Amino acid sequence: MDRKKFLITASLAAFSISACASVKINGESGTIEEPDGEGEGELIGQCATTSDILGPFYRANAPVRTDLTFSGLEGSVVDVKGRILGPDCMTPIEDALVEIWHCNTEGEYDNDSDEYRHRGIQTTTKTGEYSFKTILPGKYQNGKLYRPAHIHFRVTSPTTNELVSQLYFIGDPHITKDPWASQEKAVDRIRPIVLEDVKGSLVVNLDIFTSQSEQ
Ligand SMILES: [Fe+2]
Repeated sequence: MDRKKFLITASLAAFSISACASVKINGESGTIEEPDGEGEGELIGQCATTSDILGPFYRANAPVRTDLTFSGLEGSVVDVKGRILGPDCMTPIEDALVEIWHCNTEGEYDNDSDEYRHRGIQTTTKTGEYSFKTILPGKYQNGKLYRPAHIHFRVTSPTTNELVSQLYFIGDPHITKDPWASQEKAVDRIRPIVLEDVKGSLVVNLDIFTSQSEQ
């Protein structure tokens, strides 16, 4: 199969947003290469989404929900969505558990309230889709540096390996010095924030490719 390049974003030129001090989008574009392989068997393992650290702010038992917004919430609302796909890079995983958690615009996690703010879990549809309505998170300090804005995610399913990772945003100035976001393996998880319509709806798409369970 010929190598193909897919333009994944070109729509952000001249568009700038500051949901918080750490997130500035300066029109960038990127490409993603389709993995080589004549048959689907050759694709297995080539597209797996890379892992990232769990971090210290994970809380078990997050509520099942798709809408993480609430009354009085400050920040730019965004839909974070995509598909969970199998190790062959194309088969949707139904009923996979997708969990996300992130800080608020001030860089603070909800580590103890009963509301489990900015935390949620859901199962994928028949077509492997997930979608969370939430806000763009802020930055927080890690030693002398700030971590770039990020959304933690965890994906589990009966047939694939658990994946714990993080989503970052194109244009964030803190990515280059962050020990994790700056790694080569994080490149495909640095995603554009797309202005979806004239009403100002923001969307971040992230298809997540799982890896083969050893069982
Ligand atoms: Fe974090």
